Amino acid sequence: MKSVVDTPGSQPQPTNVPIVVSTFDLRKVYRSGFWLNQKIVSLKSCSLTVYQGETFGLLGPNGAGKTTLLKLLLGIVRPTAGRGLLLGKPLGDRQVKQSIGYLPENPYLYDYLTGWEFLELAAGIFQIPRRIQRQRIPQLLELVGLPLADARKKQMRRYSKGMLQRVGMAQALINDPEIIFLDEPMSGLDPLGRYQMREIILGLKAAGKTIFFNSHILSEVEQICDRIAILSQGELICAGSLNELLGNSNIYKIRGKGGDKDVLHKWMPNLIFSHDGSWQGTLKEDYYDFLDSLRLMEGQIISLDLARHSLEDFFIQNIQQQNTSVQSNSGYTTDGDVAAAQAKF
Ligand SMILES: Nc1ncnc2c1ncn2[C@@H]1O[C@H](COP(=O)(O)OP(=O)(O)OP(=O)(O)O)[C@@H](O)[C@H]1O
Ligand SMILES: [Mg+2]
Repeated sequence: MKSVVDTPGSQPQPTNVPIVVSTFDLRKVYRSGFWLNQKIVSLKSCSLTVYQGETFGLLGPNGAGKTTLLKLLLGIVRPTAGRGLLLGKPLGDRQVKQSIGYLPENPYLYDYLTGWEFLELAAGIFQIPRRIQRQRIPQLLELVGLPLADARKKQMRRYSKGMLQRVGMAQALINDPEIIFLDEPMSGLDPLGRYQMREIILGLKAAGKTIFFNSHILSEVEQICDRIAILSQGELICAGSLNELLGNSNIYKIRGKGGDKDVLHKWMPNLIFSHDGSWQGTLKEDYYDFLDSLRLMEGQIISLDLARHSLEDFFIQNIQQQNTSVQSNSGYTTDGDVAAAQAKF
């Protein structure tokens, strides 16, 4: 297992980038049962750091503790132990809430209000003047791709899941927050909706916002995030940039045909030729320089892939290792839990 577990102060980031989220051994134990005598350890000693302007993805199987961590950061639930800072203030600070946006996992959005009315309500909570609301609400509706007519006329009980998710996203941005927490923002969206959500997140990122989001959709995370962390059974098992965790993104596996054998060998020392005349190798040099050279020797590319692992492979491998070590520590012997963890995800 890659043990790049984040501890505040041990980051590869430049020191002049402000920290917006830091947690120190944060722990949450819920009590349940009629006599509140059952303990559920949702989060064990979690220490992580998120920098300003970063898009940070929190991954983990169902029940790993992702929503719990988000709720702790937002001050919705209190930690059992440990502490954290959000925008330099202790978790739960009221002033900081003005600067954050939150899209919950299962937003409850008042069935009998229209989308527009709900956004007015949200804007009212932040004491945004009516004049500004009248400009901002249509802008946000356009951003999230919800037709104005639906927002104005339809009550939200008549909205589809995707429409509700869009209103939820607009609500999360109503106060022009500095940091946005999104719990499964792609959930329930069709491929076009996911694409639009990804574009919105990338737009926010370009505007310098910090985004902290939970997701199960690893391909989206891979495309959007600067850094990720993986939680499993309440434990942070790794954190870091995708390059740190998955390997360098500037190494390519290339298959092609034609060109000069000797020149190709200089670019890719591990070059292998197949009997059909095609070749394949790993390119560690500058990609554009290689393409120029290939063009000069009249070679062609058949396929090109990043040489690093996919996030999905990395994720499954880490969860399996974590489950195996938990089982061996606790005396479990079956593979059922490992398979269940994969299946759930
Ligand atoms: N209010 C609560 N009371 C008791 N237990 C809770 C409560 N909220 C969460 N839990 C438990 O804490 C653990 C972590 O839950 P959490 O919702 O944080 O997981 P998650 O990673 O967000 O999962 P998912 O991917 O399904 O959303 C689970 O075992 C869950 O049952
Ligand atoms: Mg959750």
